[in-house]
Amino acid sequence: MQRTKIKEILNSDPSIIIDKEYKVQGWVRTRRDSKNISFIALNDGSIINHLQIVVDHDKFDEVFLKKITTGSAIGVKGKILPSPAPKQPIELHADMIEIYGECPADEYPLQKKHHTLEFLREIAHLRPRTNTFGAIFRIRHNLSFGIHKFFNDKGFYYFHTPIITTSDCEGAGEMFRVTTLDLYNLPFTPEGKIDFTQDFFGKEASLTVSGQLEGELGALALGEIYTFGPTFRAENSNTTRHLAEFWMIEPEMAFYDLKDNMDLAEEFVKYLIKYLLDHNYEDLQFLNERYDKALLDRLNHVLDTPFERISYTDAVEILKNSKQNFEFPVYWGADLQSEHERYLVEKYYKKPVIIIDYPKEIKAFYMKSNDDGKTVRAMDVLVPRVGEIIGGSQREDDYDKLFKRIEESQVPIEDVWWYLETRKFGSAPHSGFGLGFERFMLFVTGMGNIRDVIPFPRSPKNIEF
Ligand code: 4AD
Ligand code: MG
Repeated sequence: MQRTKIKEILNSDPSIIIDKEYKVQGWVRTRRDSKNISFIALNDGSIINHLQIVVDHDKFDEVFLKKITTGSAIGVKGKILPSPAPKQPIELHADMIEIYGECPADEYPLQKKHHTLEFLREIAHLRPRTNTFGAIFRIRHNLSFGIHKFFNDKGFYYFHTPIITTSDCEGAGEMFRVTTLDLYNLPFTPEGKIDFTQDFFGKEASLTVSGQLEGELGALALGEIYTFGPTFRAENSNTTRHLAEFWMIEPEMAFYDLKDNMDLAEEFVKYLIKYLLDHNYEDLQFLNERYDKALLDRLNHVLDTPFERISYTDAVEILKNSKQNFEFPVYWGADLQSEHERYLVEKYYKKPVIIIDYPKEIKAFYMKSNDDGKTVRAMDVLVPRVGEIIGGSQREDDYDKLFKRIEESQVPIEDVWWYLETRKFGSAPHSGFGLGFERFMLFVTGMGNIRDVIPFPRSPKNIEF
């Protein structure tokens, strides 16, 4: 008999499936025994809810039944019947049970009691089996799917940019080196420098911090593209919003100015919220109940509200005039800290905010200069509870201006000559942005720590699993 997913059973109209035979397979979440009957809550990962399995002790061997404990993997065949319990309309009455893997009760770390998120991080190999992480990883899946759907429906092409690269897109010097040199026996040049000509690529290579530079090459040929891949940053930030390995979505569009870019970002964020409300409502409801009672209200509010759009200069004025005591000082030219972003979003405007036209000194070399000579066409999208989820800009499309910015920013021209060359051969206005996938996951799940929205987080001194 073919296996049926529990989601399909629980989402069926009971009148259609009652008295029919089904086979299910999954992991035992709990087991409750009364005199002649046991109740097993079975979960197979397809949905947050469990299927109640009713086991009549007369039908099975006692020693065999003892082996079915919390965490064990089993298959059950039987009939669906109406359930007398008010919690669920139906239950499955077992006629046949198979045990695939037993689970020693005295050793299994996931007992019925409440576990802290900190503890669950230490058992990341087992935490997908909890209600919380089942919900989060189902949301992660649907969010990925929704992202591809959004862009595909708009005629954007999924463009694959390299993971191993020689260029530091953000210029922050936070790259992980990739090498096959023998670290215990390094080759040196006569000047005493490491001789990278003997390395695998014949050059210094690293893991990418962003696919943008190559994404722009795609946009300047295919029109509208997006990337969706892992990115790596060796920044030593041990915060609840930074990972060393995270996923980023980077759309890049020819013939878009900054306003078009903002419009797309706002539409994108709203589309994804709607997509999750339509596809993961039970999971979101669970997280709302368990972790963040304001989650669903917040998502619906963001969906219905136009984002505020302000300049960096105005943002600094608002912050300077506020009565809030900030840890980091605010002045024109300072980078905005998370406390500043959250004040603007949560206290001042009470809705998402897009800040544009930042000082060029605090932004990357590729952003288009404004006529004032001081600011660039940057945009950051900020949301409640998380702060920045998107960073983007209109790109500098003028050869001479870009060349000057590359020099000023001390980006080695031999790393980006090909990027500059696109401004010589049919340059066009274009814009793009990067959405941090896990930052967005924080926002839509209401979780407080970025390590809890990715299956196997990577952060300083943390690479188990
Ligand atoms: O603002 P960032 O650094 O922008 C870029 O990388 C541009 N090249 C994007 C573009 O225009 N195509 O990063 C973009 C987003 C941030 O807004 C944030 O959401 C996320 O990536 N991000 C991180 N997420 C988790 N951990 C980190 N260490 C992150 N650094 C950035
Ligand atoms: Mg940024």
